[in-house]
Amino acid sequence: MRRGEKGILLLTAALVLFFGARNVIHLEHHPVSQDPGIPFYSTASHEVARKATDIIREQGCRNCHTLWATQSMVQFVPSPPLDGIGSLRNEAWLYKYFSAKDPQQMLPSRMKPKYRMPSYADLPENDRRLLASYMASLKVKDWYLKKVREVEYEKLTGHPMVDAGMHPSR
Ligand code: HEC
Repeated sequence: MRRGEKGILLLTAALVLFFGARNVIHLEHHPVSQDPGIPFYSTASHEVARKATDIIREQGCRNCHTLWATQSMVQFVPSPPLDGIGSLRNEAWLYKYFSAKDPQQMLPSRMKPKYRMPSYADLPENDRRLLASYMASLKVKDWYLKKVREVEYEKLTGHPMVDAGMHPSR
């Protein structure tokens, strides 16, 4: 082995050791539990996600709804966020909802008529199926749902949820 090659080899080994050690230290100082990350995810295939995203853009769903924690800046409408909606509604319900001539019969509205969920009954059936499939794939992690429930509970009752006998061990 030539001197130059030996140097490169040594340097590589040193770098591997350095970054390896850094990662270990990094993990020790930031336990995963302290930064649980974004609670929303999708189980859809790349293909379904891409096609559905096109329809969502064409139909302007984000003029009213947040999705992936963002909403288009055209106006603010207090519609339910679509992140994690698949943990609340299943695909069959969503397909029926998008196909309904009068969606407010399935889900009553408290909004002024112009802010209400429009009917998408006139979209091609394939598009409605794609939307339902994609929406059903938008999930929220359990720890986040639990946290949301706890916050809601405390807001409504003024007591932390542990008082409510939710923890049988206490
Ligand atoms: C004009 C605003 C507006 C637009 C555009 C809109 N929505 Fe909605 N959507 C709402 C409102 C408001 C609700 C709550 C029910 C109501 O008030 O009619 C809702 C309800 C929903 C729900 C049910 C939420 C739940 O809690 O179960 C889903 C799913 C949904 N919309 C998906 C979509 C999709 C997908 C699109 C685009 C194809 C879309 N929305 C376009 C306003 C809108």
